[in-house]
Amino acid sequence: MQTGSSLLIKSLIIAFLIFCQQPVGAKEGMWIPATLKDHEKEMKSMGLEIPIDQLYNASGTGLNNAIVLFGRGCTGEIISSKGLILTNHHCGYGSVQGLSSAQQDYFANGFWAKNMQGELPCKGLTVTFIRRMENVTPQILEGLKDTLRDSFRDTVIGLRIAALEKEFRAKTGLDVSVKPYFDGNQYWAAISETYRDIRLVGFPPNGIGAFGGDVENWIWPRHTGDFSMFRVYAGGDNRPADYAGSNKPYHAEQFFNINTSGYKEGDFTMVYGFPGTTKEYISSYELSQVYNISDPISIEARSRRLGIWSKHMGWTRSNFLKYTSKRAGVANGWKKWQGELLGLKANDVVGKKLADEKIFQAWADTSKAVSYAATILPQMRTAAEIASPLLTQEQYIREAVLGVELIQQGAAFENVAGCFRLGLSQDALRDTLTKLIAGMEGFYKNYDPATDKDVFISLMVLYFNKCTAWVPDEFKDQYRAHDQDVNVWAADVYKTSMLTSIAQLKDFAANAGTADSAKLLGDPAWKLYNAITALRKQKITPALKDYYSRMRYLDRLYTNAQMEEHKNKTFYPDANLTLRLAYGQVKGLDPEGPAKYSFQTTLKEVVALDDTASDIFRVPQKLKDLYAAKDYGQWGVNGVMPVAFIASNHTSGGNSGSPVLNAKGELIGTNFDRAYEGTMSDYYFDPTRCRNISVDIRYTLFIIDKFGGAGWLIDEMNIVKPKSNAARAKK
Ligand code: ARG
Ligand code: GLU
Repeated sequence: MQTGSSLLIKSLIIAFLIFCQQPVGAKEGMWIPATLKDHEKEMKSMGLEIPIDQLYNASGTGLNNAIVLFGRGCTGEIISSKGLILTNHHCGYGSVQGLSSAQQDYFANGFWAKNMQGELPCKGLTVTFIRRMENVTPQILEGLKDTLRDSFRDTVIGLRIAALEKEFRAKTGLDVSVKPYFDGNQYWAAISETYRDIRLVGFPPNGIGAFGGDVENWIWPRHTGDFSMFRVYAGGDNRPADYAGSNKPYHAEQFFNINTSGYKEGDFTMVYGFPGTTKEYISSYELSQVYNISDPISIEARSRRLGIWSKHMGWTRSNFLKYTSKRAGVANGWKKWQGELLGLKANDVVGKKLADEKIFQAWADTSKAVSYAATILPQMRTAAEIASPLLTQEQYIREAVLGVELIQQGAAFENVAGCFRLGLSQDALRDTLTKLIAGMEGFYKNYDPATDKDVFISLMVLYFNKCTAWVPDEFKDQYRAHDQDVNVWAADVYKTSMLTSIAQLKDFAANAGTADSAKLLGDPAWKLYNAITALRKQKITPALKDYYSRMRYLDRLYTNAQMEEHKNKTFYPDANLTLRLAYGQVKGLDPEGPAKYSFQTTLKEVVALDDTASDIFRVPQKLKDLYAAKDYGQWGVNGVMPVAFIASNHTSGGNSGSPVLNAKGELIGTNFDRAYEGTMSDYYFDPTRCRNISVDIRYTLFIIDKFGGAGWLIDEMNIVKPKSNAARAKK
């Protein structure tokens, strides 16, 4: 006989089992392409319509060949057989800065090559293709016990990697790099090709490509046309070559077809690119340090610095230009960490980890599978407890003390001080010093002492208050010598230090005598830099170095043990700037309930944000004209121009510029950011909050075609028209 309650339990169990089998809308993970076969079933159930082999295969004909590591930390995709690359505006920014001038201001006016001859070589820019990946764990780790000391283990591994890379290079004629995965429990070789002749093709003005600036950064809804275009050039054999006028556009066997038929909520999507760093498997102890120490201290110190910078930037145009790029960099992390804290808190991730660790410990205490498992967490806990006070000091030094540019600039004077110790003749000394000082022009071009003095005042107060017992005597002495008044102290430092201006430094270099080292040694800013450096060297850096190497060892063991504990779960390795594929679905966002924010923004919203008095919300006139005339060419949808959209793919920094693909592996957008609510995905992925943000490919094409007048580029792409597959046959 069945009682009512056992029936209820049974039906609950059945409901639960059915629930577990449902394809979930969002899927955590950034997967190694060569392991995607294991996910084929799930990906198909979520909507994938092509064989995995088309995304990646060992014979080298997969779409991985249409993706590049762009520069040092972004992703780009190939969108024509002639090596045309699409990436983000903020990824091309540095290269364009090198090509721009007051006369040729591409940030203000944009750049659109009229033909291939008009494309501009970008010095130093490279792109890297990953041709093939191979799991080489057995070759690298064979015979090495997990608990072997890292110092010995690293030496053996280093030798094995070198030998293996040599072998691969000889065998393939290509580049190769062997990297650790899963905290050093696996090793993979990536066989690659790096091209060195890359040229700028198209770059919308900042009013489109950086629209919304820092205000909309990390925010959904978003209105930025964050894209730019480049082209890969190759030598006669289609292989990498140094820049030469005679180089030819790289002939791409694989490139992305572009689908302009759009998407709807729930549609399957993939992001294929190079995420940089995630730490999903760390212990609660390490996460607590992020949550309680590094994030809050950085945010606190940067709030002060950014507030002062912004105030001074508002006063003069010259200050604005000096600090705009520095502010963007400092603000990017500052804002991301705030979102991260919010998400970690909302999910009580530290608490969840502690609960998981209890279960892990119980398993470890009885498990025979991993002999060392039981002692890992206690060791981590002890190590972290000892390190936390030091981490706190280190973080304040980095963000508060060295957040003062004048003190940070002391680092550049190590060499200057060194010159005096070389025993050079006076002429040689002056010559060397002059050269060293000349190398600092770049810093001083973007430096305003009055701004920095206010930062000094604010950050010294913070540092003294938070680190009282650790403040070096030199700091306290200077403070006391100035009536214990930080304003008086700051005024004097910025008046007397020669590190505040390039003119004083040039003068010093040109007239230096061999006995003049005293001038530098007596400089108040240099003395502060030296005092803080000495404190770090004596009391902080060596201990932290030990801590990090201890944790590296324990992290490896812990990750391995967690994988043993959950033998049936498929783990993905933390991001390490290698090629990964994430999959998810187009999805709106509202962590608190039914989606408040739709999954898409449109040009109408962009124009509604227009503010001609604002540097970041000023919509270019031509774009407003196109909007007014609804002149969207073939790219609009019933009079609406889509701009950006969100989906639930697991991405991270480095995924900027990554292709966003539909179920057929066709390009529907370019990834460029994550939503504030979900930036904690570097530690914990919550499908209700984590969204990647992409430029809609139709907006990109509209801007190229109608705004940039560069229709010749559209002609070389392979565009899948709505409801027609005719264009696909072209390939
Ligand atoms: N948050 C994006 C990424 O990390 C975009 C950064 C560039 N945009 C900006 N407004 N600063 O890194
Ligand atoms: N903007 C980031 C980048 O430059 C991508 C955003 C993220 O961190 O997900 O890679």
